[in-house]
Amino acid sequence: MAAKFYVGLMSGTSLDGVDAVLAAFDGDKPEFVASHHLPFDDNMRAEALALHERGHDELHRAALLGNRLVRSYAEAVSGLLSKVSPDGTPCQVRAIGCHGQTLRHQPADGYTLQLNNPALLAELTGITVVADFRSRDIAAGGQGAPLVPAFHDALFRTPDLHRVVLNLGGIANLTDLAPGKPTTGFDCGPGNMLMDAWVQRHHGHRFDADGSWAATGTVLPELLARLRAHPFLALPPPKSCGRAEFNLDWLSRQLEGTERPRDVQATLAAFTAATVADAVRDHCGTPDELVVCGGGARNRTLMKLLAERVPARRTIGTDSLGLPVDWVEAAAFAWLAWRTLRGEPGNLPAVTGARGPRVLGAIYPA
Ligand SMILES: Nc1ncnc2c1ncn2[C@@H]1O[C@H](COP(=O)(O)OP(=O)(O)O)[C@@H](O)[C@H]1O
Ligand SMILES: [Mg+2]
Repeated sequence: MAAKFYVGLMSGTSLDGVDAVLAAFDGDKPEFVASHHLPFDDNMRAEALALHERGHDELHRAALLGNRLVRSYAEAVSGLLSKVSPDGTPCQVRAIGCHGQTLRHQPADGYTLQLNNPALLAELTGITVVADFRSRDIAAGGQGAPLVPAFHDALFRTPDLHRVVLNLGGIANLTDLAPGKPTTGFDCGPGNMLMDAWVQRHHGHRFDADGSWAATGTVLPELLARLRAHPFLALPPPKSCGRAEFNLDWLSRQLEGTERPRDVQATLAAFTAATVADAVRDHCGTPDELVVCGGGARNRTLMKLLAERVPARRTIGTDSLGLPVDWVEAAAFAWLAWRTLRGEPGNLPAVTGARGPRVLGAIYPA
């Protein structure tokens, strides 16, 4: 078979689980064949969350959790591959692009740290693994993030439509694809993370399904104004953020304590929509299309707010462009691994602020 298959593996800041996507590269435009999602169990999630904080014996705990995480990654790969070859015919995968689980992202201190054990993943799957995509960009003076804009550019750019791609993961990031201009992009603030944390605290659910709880609340204008004063939001791009900037402790400090929980949830949805709308207005102008991907595209309350507030002529999901909303980030890491094995750069210096294009990642041969 002429097609070359690559697997992308992504587990993001939401800590919901791992997404695996199978991509076929035959010529320059990839084709996305299948996906598989493996949710993290509560214990894995709790351990990963705990490792976001300083704590006792964290190197040892991180190493052990890295091994556990990679066993889930291997299970996700095997679940994915069994979908495309149910009769057991092996699908020849050239490489797995494995992002890892971010525990620290501190470009200002010169490092980013994704929990992973690519050697173990290569051993368990028998497939070459490309990992640690962000470090090289940081070594070259960049933010190491976001990395998906180059992929959005390859897939969604058109000569006559001004598109802005919005990835609504735990964090939200934008890619500006203006015709005739270089692609830009940056993290614009929280995506689902604060809403997830708040619904978890009050109802024990991992997320507010369809945004239905937020829809029962009323936006609190004073709280919204305090949230919008977060200093990250006023920084000029290039910029990137994570759980260090937006978390439950920070949110708790903005509350008076008398708010109805459902009103806080409504305000958090409005906060995400407002930060996206501000970022588009300030940095992208008036695009023809806001193209949304990531799990947040399933939050109807949030999507409605975005359609109302973002100055775009229309708001659509990547589904309408042929790529399901929850495949996009994992697909990007299949694409990045493909670039790496071809010796081609994966970063966009205009996005990350790096000194130049760099071939990203480290290769762990099968
Ligand atoms: N049906 C849904 N309704 C509302 N939110 C959803 C739904 N499905 C997924 N999400 C949101 O998407 C998040 C996962 O999105 P994802 O793109 O995987 O983010 P990350 O890259 O941070 O892991 C969940 O934590 C949740 O907030
Ligand atoms: Mg996820």
